[in-house]
Amino acid sequence: MEKLSIEDMAVFCKRKGFVYPSSEIYGGFSGFWDFGHLGVELKNNIKNEWWKYHVQQREDIVGIDGSIITHPKVWQASGHVENFEDIMLKCSKCKQEIRADHFIEEKLKVNVEGRSVDEINSIMKKNKLKCPKCSSDFEKIRQFNLMFKTSVGPGEDNSSAAYLRPETAQLIFADFKLVADNARLKLPFGIAQIGKGFRNEISPRDFLFRCREFEMMEIEYFAHPEKTGKCPFIDEVNEEELSFLTAEMQEKKQQPKKMKVKDAIKRKLISEWHAYWLATEQKWFTGLGAKKENFRVRQHLEKEKSHYALDTWDLEYNFPFGWKELQGIANRSDFDLKQHIKFSGSDLSIFDEETRKKIVPYVVAEPSQGVERAFLVFMFDAYEYDKKRENVVLKLHPKLAPVKAGVFPLVNKLDNEAKKIYDSLKKDFNCIFDKSGSIGRRYARADEAGIPYCITVDFDTLKDKAVTVRNRDDTKQVRVPIKDLREAIGKLINNS
Ligand code: GAP
Repeated sequence: MEKLSIEDMAVFCKRKGFVYPSSEIYGGFSGFWDFGHLGVELKNNIKNEWWKYHVQQREDIVGIDGSIITHPKVWQASGHVENFEDIMLKCSKCKQEIRADHFIEEKLKVNVEGRSVDEINSIMKKNKLKCPKCSSDFEKIRQFNLMFKTSVGPGEDNSSAAYLRPETAQLIFADFKLVADNARLKLPFGIAQIGKGFRNEISPRDFLFRCREFEMMEIEYFAHPEKTGKCPFIDEVNEEELSFLTAEMQEKKQQPKKMKVKDAIKRKLISEWHAYWLATEQKWFTGLGAKKENFRVRQHLEKEKSHYALDTWDLEYNFPFGWKELQGIANRSDFDLKQHIKFSGSDLSIFDEETRKKIVPYVVAEPSQGVERAFLVFMFDAYEYDKKRENVVLKLHPKLAPVKAGVFPLVNKLDNEAKKIYDSLKKDFNCIFDKSGSIGRRYARADEAGIPYCITVDFDTLKDKAVTVRNRDDTKQVRVPIKDLREAIGKLINNS
């Protein structure tokens, strides 16, 4: 089946109440989106499943929830004030502003992320690139810091200037010592956080893919600086197959190669820690219904790497507009902790029992996932137009489905009986009660909202005290006694 375009997905999301353009009554606000009643449920379910898998079901990761506006020195230490910049092109005539690397990639099909102003200038000149809107020359190229600035308190001078965080990661580094001492974890261990991030993107685009306000689910995973080579959990993912695209393969213009993790490590294509986290992340997505064939793992080219990264791999997804970063996993080494030690003067080292020495741990991997991009992946891989039913069936994994069950009285006379069932189920599951329209219309509406189970109360219910449960994906129906319904729905959701 042909993939839905990103524009069509935006239309579908608006029509069904998943996502709306923010401030639409004022013409919208580029890069900002509001989540509707189905969208907020799906988003919460994604975050809850992420937290369960990465924090609650592991013994080596704990969580924090840091503030959005932090001490400005955090961003000086992290290098964001100096380096968190994109190169911007501005048309000399129509004044349109665009991000240079994206524009060049579109025009010349080459990846120039991370190139300097001089390099971009010479590529622009050599290829005589003009404004895509009015074909005029661009003004002087300039760098643009992506952090949103604000001021704290009534003062308006520079001393009150602060930033909205562009990543949640720095809060983990700034709180590292407190968390490490408190949680009494032994290396290797991780600290996780879910929260909003803000980036003043030059050209937000592709619906939720590139926004100015978004949410991040991030982990900083710390290891002993002398033990970064071995990952103790590698056996858990050795058999997982990933589609690999190393930096060398990209330079040689080779296609990605499918390989088991253990074989890629044997061939020294990837470090154990990177392989472990990429496979763990792919497993999280596919375990919740995403399609494995839509994933690949790509190593950053030397020039593409962020200022803090020794090595970075992206988990990429085959979006309708091409293979793009879904999640970035960087090896940040001890860059951030050492910077915060330098700028704050605080001791952020921890005591290693084994060597009886104080050490500054290494971030061997930083799985960093945007909630909105995960949202898109689950929506794209769930979306199917069913020709026979003549409606969209949103095959979201039951754990992610915004609404778990719909309760439908077959006719008005059965409203009371159905309402009793709905009232008892809604204590445990997010359900809807729908009595309007034919049963076929109600099934179609439920399919489009991704409701996995429809419960119909019919005349037999009054006699046999049972209801019909219809499965969204294959439309099969089974009869379930009302007294067993809560347990049956629970089992269906949890065992899918
Ligand atoms: N702490 C590491 C970090 O911030 P990043 O690759 O810049 O790394 C991590 O961002 C993830 O956040 C991305 O892989 C993506 O999923 C998401 N993300 C980044 N910028 C975004 C944007 N403008 N809109 C939506 N999601 C974004």
